[in-house]
Amino acid sequence: FHPPVRSICCIGAGYVGGPTCTLLAARCPHIQVTIVDVNPSRIAAWNSPPDPLTGELTGLPVFEPGLGEVVKACRGRNLWFSTEIDEAIRAADLIFVSVNTPTKKSGIGAGYAADLHYVESSTRRIASVATSSKIIVEKSTVPCRTASSMRTILEANSRPGIHFDILSNPEFLAEGTAMRDLQNPDRVLIGCLDTPSGREAADRLGEVYENWVAPERIYTTGLWSSELSKLAANALLAQRISSINSLAAICESTGANIGEVAHACGLDKRIGPNFLRATCGFGGSCFSKDLLNLVYLSESLGLHPVAEYWRGVLAMNDWSKARFAQKVVSTMFNTITSKRVAVLGFAFKKDTGDTRESPAITLCRTFLEDNALLSIYDPKVPHEQIWRDLVNDPSRPSPSPYPGSGGVLLDSSLDASIASLKSSSRVTLASSALEACRDAEAVVITTPWDQFRTLDWQAVFSQMQKPAFVFDGHSGFLDVARLEKIGFKVQAVGRGPEKMDAWL
Ligand code: UDX
Ligand code: UDX
Ligand code: ADP
Repeated sequence: FHPPVRSICCIGAGYVGGPTCTLLAARCPHIQVTIVDVNPSRIAAWNSPPDPLTGELTGLPVFEPGLGEVVKACRGRNLWFSTEIDEAIRAADLIFVSVNTPTKKSGIGAGYAADLHYVESSTRRIASVATSSKIIVEKSTVPCRTASSMRTILEANSRPGIHFDILSNPEFLAEGTAMRDLQNPDRVLIGCLDTPSGREAADRLGEVYENWVAPERIYTTGLWSSELSKLAANALLAQRISSINSLAAICESTGANIGEVAHACGLDKRIGPNFLRATCGFGGSCFSKDLLNLVYLSESLGLHPVAEYWRGVLAMNDWSKARFAQKVVSTMFNTITSKRVAVLGFAFKKDTGDTRESPAITLCRTFLEDNALLSIYDPKVPHEQIWRDLVNDPSRPSPSPYPGSGGVLLDSSLDASIASLKSSSRVTLASSALEACRDAEAVVITTPWDQFRTLDWQAVFSQMQKPAFVFDGHSGFLDVARLEKIGFKVQAVGRGPEKMDAWL
């Protein structure tokens, strides 16, 4: 049914499609890889030239450590970024569908279900332009059974004699470590239909991965299992964080220390030490979206207690963010009105410029509602993105998370809200952490960028108002004892109150 793969097209040049297919091109020099997107400014950014001084590719639409070097090595060799979608589809033996699947903002399932119209429109496009048989690979995180819908669309619309096989091959990379994760994945999951051509398609995709992944790490399952495993893995990871965050609240009220509790629990091999960092909440494009998907799926299957169970993980996350904000306000004598608060970090985690679902957004909005003056600094998030996130009403379609997208998705009322916030002088976007902290009464660590740990905290202290408060949203991130020695009043997630008594 399918010859060995020589040409790959990836539809969607985002955080998943871009890095994934770039690494694939690097490891498979014998395969031509074309990454296409409907957004011409995003493709232009992927094709941007190196900085003339440093030689680095700084204009890429996705910031990922190590990505620029790999793009530079492969671009123009066997890696292409293009808006010629139809041409790339026709040339490909295998097509990754890696488009966005945001949570629906309106209609049936609003607030829970995934919006699949990007997946559907790319599937219809494949069906209408393909002139030969192909393997179609669902890469975006999608609700269960999407592959089966895609198959129905392809079968109903394809030309005679053309055969499509659908695979599910979810991506498990984490932003900030994407290149490392792609190079050395814990597993590659391939879901296929249990038919001769389905199994052959899975073998063909497996062969592509075997160029750099050990065969025993490639796990083939049914389509449904593969689709559900992606949602399940993210739900389980998110659940671990909500669990540890719930225990952090107990620590703060009792004098236990969440770092010690997490370490003690993680020593049990059945629990393991990873992903037990208590924080001011998890963010990112996946966890909330996938939990909502799982809740929606459970509801639609009539499994209400299951839906309730996973809804609890999200509720705990919302509460963790609210609790942290509340702690800032209550510690600062129950008012932050007209007080300058330095917010360090705006991305949802370090080493990315992505702000989707970043806890920093919720925290900043809460501080603004309490009439604080904010100085925000993040090493990678473009200033325009911060303004957009601060004013964007979550009930409206989100603007593009990308720098360089030309603001095409912005509407005029959003522009007006941004202009109004800028002119109010309530928010300053600083160009360094030290600058953000000048004259501040509190520093809030919202994203654990390495540079915040190694900041000249003595210099920060000397330019702040006194008492100088530090709120660490990531347990174990800052050296609390050292900061206290300098003179800071420090609150960290999950740290018990007995040390606080010394200064209250
Ligand atoms: C996640 C999954 O890890 C990845 O496998 C999947 O493909 C996509 O979703 P990502 O969202 O990029 O990846 O980053 P991740 O490292 O999982 O962090 C997500 C959020 O959880 C961040 O806000 C982070 O601060 C938070 N987190 C993580 C914690 O609060 N505590 C932890 O112990 C770990
Ligand atoms: C448990 C803890 O494992 C142990 O560390 C603690 O000191 C006491 O409580 P125990 O209750 O003796 O030990 O047995 P355990 O193997 O944990 O099983 C408890 C229950 O969980 C059993 O009913 C078992 O069937 C069930 N279980 C365990 C599952 O349903 N699924 C699993 O994956 C593991
Ligand atoms: P993810 O985090 O899943 O990669 P992103 O939003 O970063 O999601 O990227 C998805 C990309 O898919 C976007 O660049 C978007 O423009 C692109 N896209 C959406 N629909 C289509 C389509 N029908 N054809 C080509 N590209 C598409």
